[in-house]
Amino acid sequence: MSKSYKVAIVVGSLRKESINRKAAQELMRLAPDNLSFDFVEIGDLPLYDEDVEAAGTPQSWTRFRDEISAADAVLFVTPEYNRSVPGALKNAIDVGSRPYGQSAYSGKPAAVMSISPGGIGGFGANHHLRQSLVFLDMPVLQQPEAYVGGGFELFDDDGRLKSEGTEKFFKSFIDAFGDWIGRTAR
Ligand code: FNR
Repeated sequence: MSKSYKVAIVVGSLRKESINRKAAQELMRLAPDNLSFDFVEIGDLPLYDEDVEAAGTPQSWTRFRDEISAADAVLFVTPEYNRSVPGALKNAIDVGSRPYGQSAYSGKPAAVMSISPGGIGGFGANHHLRQSLVFLDMPVLQQPEAYVGGGFELFDDDGRLKSEGTEKFFKSFIDAFGDWIGRTAR
């Protein structure tokens, strides 16, 4: 039997009806049995500020760092804002990376899926995020790349993927991530 792994899911959108959150839920449904998932929320994190840290770490920063630390791997599912990562997600990257030398992300395998209504599928956000993940020493799944366009047409009223082809792609992505975690988790 293959080893089990805990995956933290970080969604870059704070919106209730987020297509990225729906995509994350579908990835969970399609994932291999040896992966378990927990959403790690980012909407309550105050903007990172070293003065605030020095005065006393906010409870939500500690909660976020503990939840990332408890996971074996991190799956990012994010929209693109102005051809980059939404500010809330960049803030979560910054919060989890500190205090200096105690990054919660360090060494954990990661994968990135970006979803957008447009045709480019969040390519800019996906690669800006990858830039940060290199610095955080997270081995990032290379293939398949996941820039998913046409996001408003993907899901039915129950949040299920409508297209068999897209479902097949989502499955290949999450299977590849499971395999990647098995090969790179420390
Ligand atoms: C966007 N959106 C957007 N889409 C895109 O493909 N490229 C972009 O650069 C941007 N820029 C952008 C900036 C801001 C501030 C907002 C609010 C939105 C549109 C975005 O893809 C759309 O709102 C998605 O629905 C966001 O994903 P969720 O929230 O549905 O997961």
